Amino acid sequence: MKHNYVLHSFYKYLSVILILALVSACQNNAGTNDEMDAQIYERVDSVMATMNLKEKVGQMTQIAIDSILRTDNNHKIIEPFQLDTAKLRRVVVEYGVGSILNVAGLALTIDQWHSFLEAIDQMTKEGKNYIPVLYGIDAIHGANYTHGTTLFPQQNGMAATWNTSLVKEAGRITAYETRASGIPWTFSPVLDMGRNPVWPRLWETFGEDVFLTTAMGKALVEGYQGTDAASKFHVAACLKHYVGYSAPLSGKDRTPAWIPERMLREYFLPPFQAAIESGALTVMVNSAEMNGIPVHADHFVLTTILRDELKFKGLAVSDWADIGNLDTVHRIAVDKKDAVRLAINAGIDMSMVPFNLEFADYLFELVKEGKVSQTRIDEAVRRILWVKFKLGLFDNFKFPKSDYPDFASQKHRDASYATAAEAITLLKNTNNILPLNKTTKVLVVGPTANNMRALNGGWTITWQGHRTDEFLGSESTILEAIQSEIGSANVTYAQGVDFEKDIDISKAVALARQATVVIVCIGENSYTEKPGDIKDLNLSASQIDLVKQLKGTGKPIIGVLVEGRPRIINQIEPMFDGIVMGYLPGNMGGVAIADVLFGDVNPSGKLPFTYPRNPNDLVIYDHKFSESIPANWYDKGFDPQYEFGFGLSYTQFKYENLVLSTDSLAFADTLVVSVDVSNTGSRDGKEVVQLYSNDLVASITPSVRRLRGFDKIELKAGEKKTVSFKITARDLAFVAANNKWTTEAGQFELYIDKLKTSFFIY
Ligand code: BGC
Repeated sequence: MKHNYVLHSFYKYLSVILILALVSACQNNAGTNDEMDAQIYERVDSVMATMNLKEKVGQMTQIAIDSILRTDNNHKIIEPFQLDTAKLRRVVVEYGVGSILNVAGLALTIDQWHSFLEAIDQMTKEGKNYIPVLYGIDAIHGANYTHGTTLFPQQNGMAATWNTSLVKEAGRITAYETRASGIPWTFSPVLDMGRNPVWPRLWETFGEDVFLTTAMGKALVEGYQGTDAASKFHVAACLKHYVGYSAPLSGKDRTPAWIPERMLREYFLPPFQAAIESGALTVMVNSAEMNGIPVHADHFVLTTILRDELKFKGLAVSDWADIGNLDTVHRIAVDKKDAVRLAINAGIDMSMVPFNLEFADYLFELVKEGKVSQTRIDEAVRRILWVKFKLGLFDNFKFPKSDYPDFASQKHRDASYATAAEAITLLKNTNNILPLNKTTKVLVVGPTANNMRALNGGWTITWQGHRTDEFLGSESTILEAIQSEIGSANVTYAQGVDFEKDIDISKAVALARQATVVIVCIGENSYTEKPGDIKDLNLSASQIDLVKQLKGTGKPIIGVLVEGRPRIINQIEPMFDGIVMGYLPGNMGGVAIADVLFGDVNPSGKLPFTYPRNPNDLVIYDHKFSESIPANWYDKGFDPQYEFGFGLSYTQFKYENLVLSTDSLAFADTLVVSVDVSNTGSRDGKEVVQLYSNDLVASITPSVRRLRGFDKIELKAGEKKTVSFKITARDLAFVAANNKWTTEAGQFELYIDKLKTSFFIY
């Protein structure tokens, strides 16, 4: 017995030693990732060795779930959705498609997801080779295509927090709830630069600044993928829309952008580069054209830059129907088959077709005809299989619902609330009208006051977000949150107007006369992509009229903006005593807005974009000096309604002692910039310390200022902290005329708040 015990202890000891040795080998071995990749590539190659051309082009095909659902005699999908076994067999067995995406117009329950994905996987097993289908979905502000999940603020609200930890956590929770639904791939984040406020997807971006976008994008990718995307709690990220999608000249979705290579490298590529370096596994391609070339056919962008320079190893998927569009929309291909040739040869690995399988047939023929090489096919399939292995699809990717106890939990809702609460940005607060006292009699009015659809925006339950109220009726609108915050007896409500017309303005005005303060909730209804194109950035006429009529009552008015892009409010802005920007704050947004209005939350959000004052003056913060020159004595030059980075607090922050570690910096040196920030008010608060630079003279006209660092800090009333940033010459570089990153010697100014200092690089 004793002997056995000793032996047992010895084995136990030995196994502990072995485990420790293994862990330490993993930690110490710098080549571990490469070694693991080498092992994955071995497995990829052994799968590929068994595949024929038909199976390979199948892997490169992605179809929408609509194509495998049962339809009625009029080809309408039957609800509730049911898989059509014959269609499914054709898609995954006969064609062996590599990937399926999204929903047929409406979110599913977690149980429906599990049963659909299981059926797809079982059917896939009937194929000659078992290669699991990679399911992908637009889970962009939470798992928004599964019912009952945690919905976060949309991306520009996330950016307004200036808090990367909150954004990483939003990514982690989204991944958790997406995987809980059985899905391992999200088409997020959007890393497009939101530099044109008219563009209907501005709210899907992290705003106009490349430094902020890069930091936020990295955080979201890290949240999605964790350190191991194969874990049952993580998903593959998809960086989209590579690249230049967000800067159409017209502001309309999927219209031409003209972006010189110099600008592409300085303003559009860095967020992609950083996210690729963080290990992002997939990329989705820009639907539109850039410099006259549809990006889906641009070999330079898709191969030379993405692969050779940025060293991206994962898969590049087309956007929706965009290979076919090379023929019908862009007119650079003679027919659909020619379109496939152009796109695959340019570097696309997978086509989001999305409805028919002709892509696979054409690609098969093109290889047989020698118009697409077998090498190119092998390269694409290798990348696709690599991603499938990285996600653990060949091992175990089916986990029971019971593995996800935190799905839609209070913990997750609290994280969404925290993000919304830190996003909300106080833009105006005349005579400290806010926060309101909880005994104030308020009239709540306006089209976004009692509307979950507006709070969540697009990609919520449906693509356009138009059925949100039907499914999320149990969540609190702004009106409901205010009612529970201060008691229904203190609140009256009238909608006043919808986004287009008068509903009951006269009732609203009558109620305003009885109230002490009017809270008017205005903005936009949900939309995304093409349906969100507009011809006028002004806030709709009905809403402007509502505010003007309310102003006639003489009552103080608080404006709450719930909108995906900064709709022009210059006619009514002077009529507001206070303005709160809510962005598209998600399910917890109503509560967070009420908490800001009544002082439970001290606002700390800062605008991640410039709020323009006039529709033909859409100049953003990092413009050139020539754009600041006034036209005449009464013009201000650069004159937005609110500046990038702006946001008030219920307390005051004082900045002093901006100190540099040196005033002359060699190229290899690091400069330490520090500043003291004190909370001089009587409330605790959070502040975003923002560091900007200005290159006084450069061979490419410098911007008036550029964001170089930020830090969100928390200060108790009366507290003081020193915040420091490290800056190297590389951090101040720009892309020069030769398209290379350059820092030129000379004088630079640094700004934090209203403090300014300068130094030399030699
Ligand atoms: C959008 C993408 C989205 C894809 C799949 C496209 O229309 O541009 O952002 O990921 O559809 O839904």
